[in-house]
Amino acid sequence: MFKVVYLIIKAGIFATTSINAPSTKILFSKFGFSFCHEYLSQISYIILISLFKQDDWDIYSFHINSTVTSRFATTVITSRVANRKDESKEIEFHVQIPKNAFISKFRMFIDGQVYDGIVKTKEQAQQQYTDAVSRGQSAGIVSSVGRTMEEFKTSVNVAAHKKVTFELTYEELLKRTHGIYEMQVHARPMKPVKDFKLDVYIYEKAGISFVDVKGGLSTKALANAITKTQTDEQAWVHFYPTEDQQKSCEYCGEDGMNGDLVIVYDVKRDTGLGDIKLTSDGYFVHHFAPTNLTRIPKNVVFVIDQSGSMNGKKMEQTRTALLHILNDLAENDFFGLITFDSEIFHWKRELVQATSENLHLAKEFARNIVDRGATDINGAILEGARMLNAHPREGSASILILLTDGDPTSGVTNPQRIQSNVKQAIAGKFPLYCLGFGFDVNFEFLEKMSLQNSGLARRIYQDSDADLQLKGFYEEVATPLLTDVTMIYIGGTNLTQTNFSQFYNGSEIVVAGKIIDNNIETFIPQVVAISSERKVNFSKTTVLQRVWAYLTVKQLLEKELLLSGSEKQKVKDEALQLSLKYSFVTPLTSMVVTKPEGENTQILHKPKEGKAPQLHGKLPFFQSLLEK
Ligand SMILES: *[C@@H]1O[C@H](CO)[C@@H](O)[C@H](O)[C@H]1NC(C)=O
Ligand SMILES: *[C@@H]1O[C@H](CO)[C@@H](O)[C@H](O)[C@H]1NC(C)=O
Ligand SMILES: *[C@@H]1O[C@H](CO)[C@@H](O)[C@H](O)[C@H]1NC(C)=O
Ligand SMILES: *[C@@H]1O[C@H](CO)[C@@H](O)[C@H](O)[C@H]1NC(C)=O
Ligand SMILES: *[C@@H]1O[C@H](CO)[C@@H](O)[C@H](O)[C@H]1NC(C)=O
Ligand SMILES: *[C@@H]1O[C@H](CO)[C@@H](O)[C@H](O)[C@H]1NC(C)=O
Repeated sequence: MFKVVYLIIKAGIFATTSINAPSTKILFSKFGFSFCHEYLSQISYIILISLFKQDDWDIYSFHINSTVTSRFATTVITSRVANRKDESKEIEFHVQIPKNAFISKFRMFIDGQVYDGIVKTKEQAQQQYTDAVSRGQSAGIVSSVGRTMEEFKTSVNVAAHKKVTFELTYEELLKRTHGIYEMQVHARPMKPVKDFKLDVYIYEKAGISFVDVKGGLSTKALANAITKTQTDEQAWVHFYPTEDQQKSCEYCGEDGMNGDLVIVYDVKRDTGLGDIKLTSDGYFVHHFAPTNLTRIPKNVVFVIDQSGSMNGKKMEQTRTALLHILNDLAENDFFGLITFDSEIFHWKRELVQATSENLHLAKEFARNIVDRGATDINGAILEGARMLNAHPREGSASILILLTDGDPTSGVTNPQRIQSNVKQAIAGKFPLYCLGFGFDVNFEFLEKMSLQNSGLARRIYQDSDADLQLKGFYEEVATPLLTDVTMIYIGGTNLTQTNFSQFYNGSEIVVAGKIIDNNIETFIPQVVAISSERKVNFSKTTVLQRVWAYLTVKQLLEKELLLSGSEKQKVKDEALQLSLKYSFVTPLTSMVVTKPEGENTQILHKPKEGKAPQLHGKLPFFQSLLEK
């Protein structure tokens, strides 16, 4: 024993001066222990690390339980941990939850005591935090944003041979894209766990058309750990990997699993008004995505940033995506291509039909886009809007798509002026979608501009699959089925958004609200919209308070972004009151977790989209070394 420790310490000193983490990792995976004699220092370093990570605490049970009713998913993560040491120890709870979710509950059970997190306004939470710090306690807030998930982390001091149970609840309305609902569950208990369970239960009254299990953990090695059962209205997915499986699968290691399970499903639909669910206390949720619609020809203009910063891989991926997208245009679509830096370049000054000859020429143009110059976002969008406005719109759906990777640096550069120019040019006639490539963009600027023009902004992550992300986004809006959709609810009040400029194949419109005096007799829902040939009118005379609250808060937060002054404050207050009432951790609230006497108060915030994830910088060295 002494010898080993001596060797390790010696090697450790050696290692701290000479170690090179990536090369160690590569060497390790390539040649294993036996070949590594001359790399003894590195290897010993790894032994040193595993000594540090010695089993003085134990997750003896880790359960994830999701219940989905009418696309509204409530997930509870329960982790039970024991401190096996003869002294007290800081025990950490560290999980990832979907970006779109709101945390609604967090509790800890220690030694027969319950410590409940309470959702408070940011200011109150901040006050509590400051008080804690002034008492000489350091309070930790850790959160960061990834592509689809956010991290939440907390820890608590647990006395010798005592146990702690962490219980986190989050809620999310699953959004239909590409014709499916996707629920991503991240499993990373931090250790192999004897009693690991992931249970998903889905109940859809309309009927479930299919359920599938995907994600990094859905591999051959784990296939026998996954079971899936389905009846007409219900489905169950269970994932119970053994301890050995948790160490040996593709996304697993000595630290256990670190991967996703993605549950994918869709519901059965009809051709009419869709399904409306009511609760006895007078709330309703309406899901609208009829099946028998035909596609509407579209007019689409792509406005592509070719400024110097798009240099290299980004430009190449943009060209690849654009070529795919051009291939997918239907013959009765019209399209335009604009590239811009400090100048604006047209392929053609007007929209042209997507005939094979035109597409061939457009692809030539796309292949030859090169990066150069500065970024005149204002000029480019206005030009795109001009082209769409000059094109007859009757019986078709117009769409403007901007792709940029930077801030405006040429022409009009003041964001407010650009926004007002763009709003004026588009005048509510078609949606603007903004794709922000990478983390040098002012995402809030793009988001605000698209929301002002009934579109949305999406971040494209600078990664090897950026071209697929671009194509994936395009496919979401590739098939317009309805335009000018107005959802009307006679006898309804407190409605979430009811006007939608376009409805695309594969998506779904969701409206929630309350029924006045809970009087179902006088409640008449209708949808009026323009389909390919004519004005259509869908009408029919036929759990969900939290869905309403969730949608209302999300939409108020979007609205708040667009307002200023006292109106902004009013909308913000409204969103805040609802967040507090329904206990959602939103950008306006925080959750305060009071820990046992004498310990830090902890505050959970919802992190903000717009900052680059700092996962790697944040990981302790040994963790990034051991990470796959
Ligand atoms: C999961 O949660 C639901 C709702 O709270 C509960 O009815 C069910 O028993 C739980 N399932 C498991 C396996 O714990
Ligand atoms: C789809 O079917 C519904 C009911 O069958 C009908 O009312 C509606 O007009 C149809 N829509 C189209 C676009 O054919
Ligand atoms: C809509 O998408 C589905 C697949 O998700 C496809 O089967 C259907 O044909 C599409 N409808 C139209 C009108 O393109
Ligand atoms: C709901 O609507 C009623 C009247 O239509 C209004 O008085 C009330 O403030 C609304 N409540 C919320 C939470 O928006
Ligand atoms: C929704 O659209 C209808 C008809 O197009 C219009 O009368 C109404 O003002 C719009 N409502 C909102 C909130 O924009
Ligand atoms: C839609 O149709 C229903 C029934 O035919 C009718 O009562 C209603 O007024 C129509 N709504 C609109 C907005 O045209």
